[in-house]
Amino acid sequence: MAIIIKTPEDIEGLRIAGRLGAEVLDYITPFVKAGVTTGELDRLCHEYMTNVQGTIPAPLNYAPPGYTPYPKAICTSVNDVICHGIPGDKVLKNGDVVNLDITIITKDGYHGDNSRMFYIGEPSILARRLTEVTYECMWLGIAQVRPGGHFGDIGYAIQQHAEKAGYSVVREFCGHGIGKGFHEEPQVLHYGKPGTGEEFKPGMIFTVEPMINAGRRDIREMNDGWTIKTKDRSLSAQWEHMVLVTETGYEVLTVSAGTPAPPAFVNAAKAA
Ligand code: MF3
Ligand code: CO
Ligand code: CO
Repeated sequence: MAIIIKTPEDIEGLRIAGRLGAEVLDYITPFVKAGVTTGELDRLCHEYMTNVQGTIPAPLNYAPPGYTPYPKAICTSVNDVICHGIPGDKVLKNGDVVNLDITIITKDGYHGDNSRMFYIGEPSILARRLTEVTYECMWLGIAQVRPGGHFGDIGYAIQQHAEKAGYSVVREFCGHGIGKGFHEEPQVLHYGKPGTGEEFKPGMIFTVEPMINAGRRDIREMNDGWTIKTKDRSLSAQWEHMVLVTETGYEVLTVSAGTPAPPAFVNAAKAA
């Protein structure tokens, strides 16, 4: 199996899917505050997708080989949860940090996958710094994308930045190609060496979604078959965008009115 080069029609479908995925995050933002349960956030997002957008939540009943079907519409990963937190009775409280990961499927069958971090009230200095460094990691990775570059360039940029800050990169989960499939080739590693891996070609579409731990990189899996936590119980953060390789560089597809601005270094590089 090889990496799919998307047709112009696919690209247009995935632009729409990316925007819709981002708009779910915009929609849910005002509800993400102390006192709300993760289950309520799931219910609200699910209703918005189904009733307002006419999209389908990709996670619901998603069952890759070796997994039990995922039971909810979104992932809610709080504090030391690295990824795939299942929404439920958990009440968000001041000082928590939570990642909401949303993937929608459009009527045309295209996936829009993205995630953002949210602070509940005032975060600790550590939680804020981890969240900001992880955001920079995602964007440093994205900024590597241009025809002729390699997937290893993304991993290297992310790993360098995370480790310089004293943090660690989760190895067991990675970004992925995306299209009519939720998880397509290739695996987009968030660590590695420049110039290694497949070459970027115009028309490739994939996610960049680094998971960065404040402590050690080791993970532990919960008995629900999905939730992944840090082994040392340190905080973990993640951000995710979908990226298209263009003739000259890249285009981020998961863009909406509420998308957080890129770090200043991205704009500076683009203007140069
Ligand atoms: N959205 C996640 C990703 O970025 C995948 C979640 S799979 C689920 O790849 F089943 F847990 F929702
Ligand atoms: Co995701
Ligand atoms: Co993803």
